Amino acid sequence: MAINLKGRSFLTLMDFTPDEINYMLKLSADLKSKKRAGIRGNLLAGKNIALLFEKSSTRTRCAFTVACNDEGAFPEYLNKNDIQLGAKEDVKDTARVLGRMFDGIEFRGFKQETVEELAKYSGVPVWNGLTDVDHPTQVLADFLTLIENFGKLKGLNLVYVGDGRNNMSNALMIGCAKMEINYTVSCPKELEPDKNLLEKCRAFSKSKIEVVNNPKDAVKNADAIYTDVWVSMGEEALKEERHKLLHDWQVNSELFNSTGKDTTIFLHCLPAVKGSEVTEDVFESDRSKVFDEAENRLHTIKAVMVATLA
Ligand code: CP
Ligand code: NVA
Repeated sequence: MAINLKGRSFLTLMDFTPDEINYMLKLSADLKSKKRAGIRGNLLAGKNIALLFEKSSTRTRCAFTVACNDEGAFPEYLNKNDIQLGAKEDVKDTARVLGRMFDGIEFRGFKQETVEELAKYSGVPVWNGLTDVDHPTQVLADFLTLIENFGKLKGLNLVYVGDGRNNMSNALMIGCAKMEINYTVSCPKELEPDKNLLEKCRAFSKSKIEVVNNPKDAVKNADAIYTDVWVSMGEEALKEERHKLLHDWQVNSELFNSTGKDTTIFLHCLPAVKGSEVTEDVFESDRSKVFDEAENRLHTIKAVMVATLA
């Protein structure tokens, strides 16, 4: 059956089938080759794109902006301090105004409900550029990087080490469950993933979704070790507590070399706090694919816009 995502919003990978996710990944690879060949396109010609940011961003903002420029769309960056969103005007009204003017809306911010409300009321595709609980565009870039390194997704072992209840861990769990990647979260008891999400993912997944507290046990057989910051945006007050809790979950060379494989790669969504969740030597090693991953944000975000708009 032909895949058609035109008009769809991209709020969480939970809403997409494995075939639809594969379609976006294949499109990402094609768009990457096109860009590498120096071909500018017009797949998004004339589209006006709103980029709404409540939280700061380097990769996501730049990926959306450059993707628009590459394919003929016009991006407009709207910081929450510059517009009425949330303060003087409710989300529902902002959504209806933006939907009358723009062809698509990216949102990065705190609540998942905000991105859902934008999608519900704007009448145009809305893309989730990160919320407190999810980061689906990042996972597409991570999966493209896995495919580039291993030629497949199904059956790989991805081990996430760190804050097991943050947006990255959630998004990876959903993505892995969809794509039949075995997913292990290694974290202290206090930071285990939400039980409801775990149950929901396990209910449909054909791969293993596990929580293994001990990091050395968790990384055995890992094809990829993934980590993220210990203190996510909006949680700055918890810094001291997190550092105490996560001290033993640092990805250092000793842990990285405990997988039993010499092909394991290191992934991180970035930005990274070197010396906390990952050591400089692992981050800079030739097994680290973090800058391929960062570049892949561009190609995958472009694919999401092309698939849902063009
Ligand atoms: N990985 C990621 O989302 O990076 P930014 O916060 O820089 O957008
Ligand atoms: N968990 C991090 C991801 C940043 C891309 C945060 O929310 O700050």
